[in-house]
Amino acid sequence: MVIAARDVRLTLGGAEPVEILRGVDLAVAAGESVALLGASGSGKSSLMAVLAGLERATSGKVEVTGLDFAALDEDALAVARRGRIGIVLQAFHLLPTMTARENVMVPLELQGADDVRERAEAELTAVGLGHRLDHYPAQLSGGEQQRVAIARALAPRPSLVFADEPTGNLDAATGARIVDLLFERRRATDASLVIITHDAALARRCDRIVELADGRLR
Ligand SMILES: Nc1ncnc2c1ncn2[C@@H]1O[C@H](COP(=O)(O)OP(=O)(O)OP(=O)(O)O)[C@@H](O)[C@H]1O
Ligand SMILES: [Mg+2]
Repeated sequence: MVIAARDVRLTLGGAEPVEILRGVDLAVAAGESVALLGASGSGKSSLMAVLAGLERATSGKVEVTGLDFAALDEDALAVARRGRIGIVLQAFHLLPTMTARENVMVPLELQGADDVRERAEAELTAVGLGHRLDHYPAQLSGGEQQRVAIARALAPRPSLVFADEPTGNLDAATGARIVDLLFERRRATDASLVIITHDAALARRCDRIVELADGRLR
């Protein structure tokens, strides 16, 4: 299993705590793709943050890529995430002062990889951006920025990729191409994929659909 989550609970907020996750159970096998659906505010992004090691569960077991998250401190978790878990977000989140190539080089450098520059170029070429290596995010279209985000997420060859509404800021045609690309790159790297989406057609392309409601999966 790439994800083994049991009875995961997440409560956030100070004076008026919100019980966002109330006992989530989820198992995702190696190579599997899972669509995560649920109404706005149901806790999809929060669940992703917990499973990606960005947010700590209040209680419950979170075992991801063989790591018991509860047993790791912040620093160990940050190191462990590198190269194992890739994340693609709705709003791209590229570093604005870095070119496309430099953005993709960052996770490879953090991983201590060899041939970082060449690998970043190869990843960008694989997403159709071989001619945009030295462009800054502001010089790229939304769809192109999302291609860079996919290249960056997959460059370290993670065993698990999360995508949180990766087509949310794109028109339908561009979004469809980005989804094709995400599935294609994922297949090429054998990664498991958890994709948060409101798009039923996209959800059907996954091996399995799960839905968050009332803080639990059904
Ligand atoms: N730091 C926080 N403190 C308190 N409540 C929070 C915090 N972060 C998120 N929430 C609440 O948790 C709930 C779930 O938020 P989350 O962003 O996970 O939903 P979502 O399913 O991703 O929604 P959307 O589809 O709109 O992106 C929301 O009601 C939100 O207000
Ligand atoms: Mg969300």
